[in-house]
Amino acid sequence: MQQHIPVALERCIALLTPALENKTNPVVIDATLGQGGHSKALLNTFPTLKIIGLDRDLSAIELAKTNLQEVMDRTVIVHAVYDEITQVLENLGISKVDGILFDLGVSSMQLDNADRGFSYANPAPLDMRMDQSQGISAQEVINSYSKGELVRVIRNFGEEKFATRIVDNLIKAREAGTINTTKDLAELVKESIPAATRRTGGNPAKRTFQALRIEVNQELAVLERAIPQAIAALQVGGRLVVMSYQSLEDKIVKSAFSKVTASRTPLGLPIDLPNSKADYKLVISGSEAASADEIAKNPRAGSMRLRALERVAA
Ligand SMILES: C[S@@+](CC[C@H](N)C(=O)[O-])C[C@H]1O[C@@H](n2cnc3c(N)ncnc32)[C@H](O)[C@@H]1O
Repeated sequence: MQQHIPVALERCIALLTPALENKTNPVVIDATLGQGGHSKALLNTFPTLKIIGLDRDLSAIELAKTNLQEVMDRTVIVHAVYDEITQVLENLGISKVDGILFDLGVSSMQLDNADRGFSYANPAPLDMRMDQSQGISAQEVINSYSKGELVRVIRNFGEEKFATRIVDNLIKAREAGTINTTKDLAELVKESIPAATRRTGGNPAKRTFQALRIEVNQELAVLERAIPQAIAALQVGGRLVVMSYQSLEDKIVKSAFSKVTASRTPLGLPIDLPNSKADYKLVISGSEAASADEIAKNPRAGSMRLRALERVAA
């Protein structure tokens, strides 16, 4: 089992530091608590910091509770989807926070735990729900969606050119009752893809698995609702740091950041109108990737893109 290494840990701490270092009792939301890797390091760096940690996965929460045992007096853990940030803060009686961190996607624990069905490398039931206490599984998506819906999911969320061929075979296989495990799905995708394409670009099942996972967990819709809530929850001087692992997520973050950091002066005017300066500024212009060193130690960091913004006015 791969050991969990928090991605871009030092960089995340450095980006959040200006928002936390001179505060008496700073508060950070870790919107994707996972095993608590980033949270633990932040709590150890800032002795008066409080963390509100959210995760939709109950097994992640159990692991985080163990890993954060020594700092639980400064940690509040909430089983929630991150598009509930506003509600969670309201329930806790907190109006604004100093920092927010999103480390998107699945955790190494979820990938390594074969039963969860996230990995094409391990034979398992086709589940893929991050929150196994509710919602529909990948198996139910495959069994109940129309051909058109399945093509839409695999093409749009997997950016898969051969979506129609894959879905034609999926429909045949579901009628024959032969698509029941991650292994069945990985084999089916491989056979649906032209032989020449199979030899390039890694495991061909990767895109279809990503697509089904996004659909099962409604990942993009949830993220689109969550980022504006996070932006609104920042104090002046507060910072939001987001790490994405695929381009569809990164696009959502980029577009939400652009909206709030752009001047409100209409385009084409030679000077900024009074009070038209944006309330937020980009801390990093564009996005940042992990260093080659980090990627060599932690391959998961390879696809990571990091963005950060700061609230500069109320
Ligand atoms: C990459 S892991 C985070 C790892 C964490 N930063 C650490 O160092 O241990 C992502 C976590 O976010 C959770 N997650 C993903 N989408 C979520 C959502 N929409 N709402 C709440 N939690 C979510 C997953 O269940 C997973 O535990």
